[in-house]
Amino acid sequence: MKTEGDGSAPRLAAARALLQVLDQGKALDSALDQAVAALATARDRALARRLSHAVLRDWPALDGLLGKLIKRRPARRDRLVWFVLAVGLAELRQQREPAPAVVHAAVAAVAAAGLGRLKGLANAVLRNYQRQRSTLEAGQDDDPVLAWGYPRWLIERIRQDWPAQWEQILAAGNQPPPLTLRVNRRHWCRDEALAALLAAGHQAAPLDGLPDALVLSQRAAVSALPGFADGGLSVQDGAAQLAVEHLDLVAGQRVLDACAAPGGKAAHILERADVELTAVDVDARRLDQVADNFRRLQLGGRLVVGNAADPAAWWDGQPFDRILVDAPCSATGVIRRHPDIRWLRQPGDIAALVALQASLLDALWPLLVPGGILVYATCSVLAVENHEQGRSFLERHEDADVIDHDQLPGLACQPGRQIVPGALDLDGFYHLAMRKLQPD
Ligand SMILES: C[S@@+](CC[C@H](N)C(=O)[O-])C[C@H]1O[C@@H](n2cnc3c(N)ncnc32)[C@H](O)[C@@H]1O
Repeated sequence: MKTEGDGSAPRLAAARALLQVLDQGKALDSALDQAVAALATARDRALARRLSHAVLRDWPALDGLLGKLIKRRPARRDRLVWFVLAVGLAELRQQREPAPAVVHAAVAAVAAAGLGRLKGLANAVLRNYQRQRSTLEAGQDDDPVLAWGYPRWLIERIRQDWPAQWEQILAAGNQPPPLTLRVNRRHWCRDEALAALLAAGHQAAPLDGLPDALVLSQRAAVSALPGFADGGLSVQDGAAQLAVEHLDLVAGQRVLDACAAPGGKAAHILERADVELTAVDVDARRLDQVADNFRRLQLGGRLVVGNAADPAAWWDGQPFDRILVDAPCSATGVIRRHPDIRWLRQPGDIAALVALQASLLDALWPLLVPGGILVYATCSVLAVENHEQGRSFLERHEDADVIDHDQLPGLACQPGRQIVPGALDLDGFYHLAMRKLQPD
């Protein structure tokens, strides 16, 4: 990929973002937004993004190699050099660019960071890596942490939950995700959207079992896609588009989206049926994004800032026909889109998330009309957040009856359906649809 000047700017931006993620626990998207702001071209911004993703997917191996190649760890104030070199090593390992160009750009990035006195070190480290690569990398494949690029605890949990699919799940998390679109049925039908995309020179195709989804085979500037600006298209993974299929919507229903921001599924609900939607989220800033999305898509719903686990504060007492609980979760199903999740999430976070999910489900179930449907969804692959959570809910609520939805994509996992990453080129998602039984 050709870059402006000596190629140092995107590498330095990637390194700055990585330092914030890996040393300071910041989310990659916001760290990158800040780090790439000064880059001159979209191409440089895309390169910084791609390189930071590459490093996060291979961090244990890269960090370990640097530990072998650098005898004395740099002082704290020089810490950035570690990440510039991690970017350089990732590029050398990927072999997409000629090695001399990679070394040159990394050394220039060290200088651009104001660490000119470490240029010699940077040059030596990358050249030594090239010379000693096979010795340095010997045995890496024997350690799953180095081979897969995930923390040990997460590999163990995924292996335990998915003994037959764990390698497929880890491998899928290391692949770049497709760009998937949702067609707004109020605007046009999927065939019309597909024809407009093809006419504009994009390669697009429908996704099986997902009536509103189109997948692009090449990256594209989303805002320039035909129909995007006036609400004909949105970006949304196919797995996230399944929630609406599980909800089985009918015009006139009262629908609650209890964890609604940034509004992808809320908008899909409104695009699909003339329902009366209440969208709740505890985070006011994130709820603003729902408002922005509704504006672009020309949709309307009632937006409420509130704690869904405490409906007394915002519920008007009228029961809902449909409730979507797209719960806060580990996000272990969307690691291919957010490679930072594997490093930011800690094993201790999971129990707190499971408790929060259970409290949301228990608090919202009474708001459902008898005969109504509640859909519980997560973008997790962990059993404890998904079918185990579903099982405990069913033990606590005898008036809940599982709807199997065998016709929808996913693996039946009693109760609910799991989209297992790697099986269908979808994000990892879990859905459980439950109908409330009429009282005796
Ligand atoms: C997985 S995201 C929802 C994504 C959204 N449904 C969509 O499709 O765009 C989970 C959301 O739950 C919200 N949340 C977390 N705890 C909550 C609570 N107690 N009550 C309401 N919302 C909550 C978070 O702010 C976050 O926006």
